[in-house]
Formats: sequence, C-alpha cells, structure tokens
Amino acid sequence: MREKTHIPSRVPPNSLGIKSLLGTEFLEKKQIEQILKYSFLFKDLLDSGKPVPQTLSGKTVILLFFEPSTRTRSSFELAAKRLGGNTLALSKEGSSTEKGETLIDTAKTVQAMNPDLLVLRHPSAGSPFHLDQTLDLPVINAGDGFHEHPTQALLDLMTIQQFKGKIEGLKVLIVGDIAHSRVARSNIYALQKMGGEVSVCGPPTLLPPKVEQMGVEVHYGLNKAVRDKDVIMTLRIQFERLNPGQSPSRGEYSKFYGISESVLKAAKSDVLIMHPGPVNRGVEISPDVADGSRSVILNQVGNGVIVRMAVLHLLTGGELPKGLV
Ligand code: CP
Repeated sequence: MREKTHIPSRVPPNSLGIKSLLGTEFLEKKQIEQILKYSFLFKDLLDSGKPVPQTLSGKTVILLFFEPSTRTRSSFELAAKRLGGNTLALSKEGSSTEKGETLIDTAKTVQAMNPDLLVLRHPSAGSPFHLDQTLDLPVINAGDGFHEHPTQALLDLMTIQQFKGKIEGLKVLIVGDIAHSRVARSNIYALQKMGGEVSVCGPPTLLPPKVEQMGVEVHYGLNKAVRDKDVIMTLRIQFERLNPGQSPSRGEYSKFYGISESVLKAAKSDVLIMHPGPVNRGVEISPDVADGSRSVILNQVGNGVIVRMAVLHLLTGGELPKGLV
C-alpha cells in the first residue's frame, strides 16, 4: 500500500520569531519596529529603482478572500509578485465554498498543493487563528470580521512615521464605527505599543462597551476631540455588520461625525488625515478633505504594498537586503 502523501513543513525559521501574523495584539514593539525597518528599506530600494530581493522566487502565496477587497487583496498580490513569487487567489464566489465546503477543508485542500504561505480575509472573527492551528504554513490575517487587520495597522504606522518622523508621543484620533472596525482595533494595539496616545470618537452605539479599558481617551463630540491631535484617522461605518437601528442615518452621521474643512478649523494646521478605505465620500469625510493637502489616503495605499512585501519577506525567512546591511 502506498504511504499517504506527506506534506512537508512550509514554516521556515525567520527573524521575527513568529509562524503567522494574526494580529497586532500579539506583536511585541521590537517586532513592529522590525517590520517598519524592512518596509522603509524596501521603500528606499523601490524609490531608487534598485532591485528588490526575490525572496519568494519559486514560492506560492495563496490568497483566500471570502469578503470583498480592493486594496488588501491587490497589494498582497503585487507584493508577492515583486518578491518573485506566484499567487493563487480564491474567493467565496466560484469556489467550492458555495457547495458547502468548510473553510478548514478548503484550506487543507489548498495546503495539499504545497503553497508556502496563506493570506486570509474572512467575515468570521478568529478564523485565521483556526487556520494557523490547522496548517503547517504561515498564515497572514488580512481582516477577520470586526476583530483585527494587522497589515492595515502596520501600513498606517509606516505612513505616520513617513510624514511625522515618529510615532512615539503623537496624539492619534480614530473617528467613527470603532465597535465594528478591525482597523481601529489593530491600530489601537499597534499605536500604543509604539508609544502613541490614542483617542476615539463616535456615537455611543458605535463604540465598543468599556472601550476606555483599551487605554484610549473617549470623545462623543468631534469639535473638542480634534483640537490637539497630530493624526485623525476616520473610518467607514461597517453597515454590513450593523443591526437595523444601530446606526444613525448617513446624513445625521455626516453632520455630527464627518471630517470636513469646517471641523478641521479647530484642528492643528499640520494634522494628518488618514482613512483605510474604501471611503464613503460625503459621509465620514468630505471630498475636499479626502483630496486635500493634509490627506495621505493614497500614500497609505502605496505603503500597503511595501509593508506587505516586508511581511511576506520576513515570514518566509528573508534577511536584510544585500547592500543595505
Ligand atoms: N483597507 C482595506 O482593507 O481595504 P479593502 O477592503 O479594499 O482591502
């Protein structure tokens, strides 16, 4: 009788000392610093037109995206390809998930094809943790329900570092639907570990219960909240995760919590305006602010590719790029 197919371990030793990237809650400050260091090294290489390490040459990254995505999915794909790798993308639509296959069975099925790393976006909080425990390859959480979105927070930190020169001591205000935002949660953990002071502002129904226990200052009114902040990060309301009646109407929300030029009159003149996207123009942010001189929304998108290159490079055992040691 033939032996069962042996699936070799696809977990190389790496200098981050972790198998998978599941959330910023589980990263230490020095690991965040290392990812940012490599991100800026890659940025320098790309900006100067120098070749980047082909760490993923001969390697395959699986992209399992069971929720819609533009930025995260395409930037992981670009990042893997810039490092010389192949990608295989699967979504819920058109895969055997529609025939009732479970996530674990789908993941085990793709693992049997010998990929090197798996990136997962899924509506269920905790799903990347189940895959990490089940699979013998690194897993990256690309957003799990309203739980975490670690690479978004890392690219946000990179963007703040790029434009403010530091993170430590900065006052960062996160505005909007904090309760359902994986971006807010990952940013709160990461910013605090890097010495940032985080405040949140939103309608009471869109703030998590006992949010102050996360070590954040809580505001319900925008005018006072924006006053002394270095960074304002505004969020989309996650209408797809809300119960009926849980949120104000779009018009009402915009009136009280929309970031407009009029609101910014009370803010510092050099405040950085951020948004993870996708943007609902005229709801959480006015078009003139989204496209204005203080907005770094498209810089966040560009940095998303670079941070994901750094994460893929490090998790697959990449070292410092030659010539930059
Ligand atoms: N910020 C973010 O996760 O965007 P996408 O949903 O387009 O990936």
